[in-house]
Amino acid sequence: MAQHNTEFVFYLPTRVVFGSTALDQLVGALKELPAWRVLVVTDPGIIRAGLLEPLTRRLEKQGIAYEIFSEVEPNPKDYQVRHGAQNAEAFGAQALVALGGGSPIDCAKAMGVLMAHHTRDLARFYGKDAVYQPSPPLFTVPTTAGTGSEVTFSSVITDTSEKSKFTIKSPLLAPRAAFMDPGLTAGMPPDLTAYTGMDALTHAVEAYTAKAANPFSDLFALRAAALIGTHLYRAFHCGSDPEARAGMLLSSLLGGMAFSQSDVASVHCLAESLGSVSDAPHGACNAVLLPYVMEFNMPCCVQKYADIARALGVSFNGEEEGARAAVVVTREMARELRLPPLKQLGIKEESLPKAAELSTGNISTKSNPRPMGREDYLDILKKAYGS
Ligand SMILES: [Fe+2]
Repeated sequence: MAQHNTEFVFYLPTRVVFGSTALDQLVGALKELPAWRVLVVTDPGIIRAGLLEPLTRRLEKQGIAYEIFSEVEPNPKDYQVRHGAQNAEAFGAQALVALGGGSPIDCAKAMGVLMAHHTRDLARFYGKDAVYQPSPPLFTVPTTAGTGSEVTFSSVITDTSEKSKFTIKSPLLAPRAAFMDPGLTAGMPPDLTAYTGMDALTHAVEAYTAKAANPFSDLFALRAAALIGTHLYRAFHCGSDPEARAGMLLSSLLGGMAFSQSDVASVHCLAESLGSVSDAPHGACNAVLLPYVMEFNMPCCVQKYADIARALGVSFNGEEEGARAAVVVTREMARELRLPPLKQLGIKEESLPKAAELSTGNISTKSNPRPMGREDYLDILKKAYGS
């Protein structure tokens, strides 16, 4: 196994409850806090999929008052965060419950930041460790398997005046607890299963190879990759397979734990930039770009990529071959999962230079194992666009 940093801090304050009784245990945790008034942060797709009702039914049964904030869009926007915080304060919410994929969870985290600091100025908190007050209790209920946001310390928000995505990163954003029922992910359509699953794989690969990787992030990342290798195709081709759904939800959790202890890197810098210039789905961008960035990083990551290939279940002779196999297998996965090329994700070719510029300024560029500049980013974007 590859060498890693020997000086590190391990901190993971989020309680994780995994299994079919997760929603019951969430209601128990709210009563224990106690929080008798909660704001549920979700989106219209979750409500249409019937995933809100099992939660509200349980809240009503236990006499917990709630309000629903469902204005969150994919790639959540700053004005949605401000409106959500205003709703939570007007309702007198004692806790936030985020139900959904990464967008409602990230929105709820950023809402908590505004509420804790009694402000509507979100830009003050962009970057690392600009948050200084603990957020109100946040309980997360993921309904997709990929984001890892249910346990991470970061929230990615689109600043609509800057037309760019910004990350707010601080351990103070960590949710109080994550309640994870694989059954809630069973109805995900194949395309969303693929996008989110490849997001989880990107978290694992980037956390494992990032400069800040440590023994804990390595453990989580390799286990996440192994679970993805076993379960992603099964979940994609047979969404009702409970074992595959549980495996993927666990991989998402472990991937999130991995990058909250380490970091993501250039694939995410690119995906977030493309999400800023086009609103393209995060996981799809990651899936398309992952093999290109892996190729670029290859000179710095031979041993680590061989570890990833091994975790994904690939056989090989020697580390060089294993590293190359890791790149090939990620490209094959994107193909097998029918992920569209960049040009079919609503991204305009003329927006690529802007995306390269934004990627260069992303705080996680520094974590990439190989130094990466604007021209490198643009080169990768052009290659991925043309494929
Ligand atoms: Fe991600």
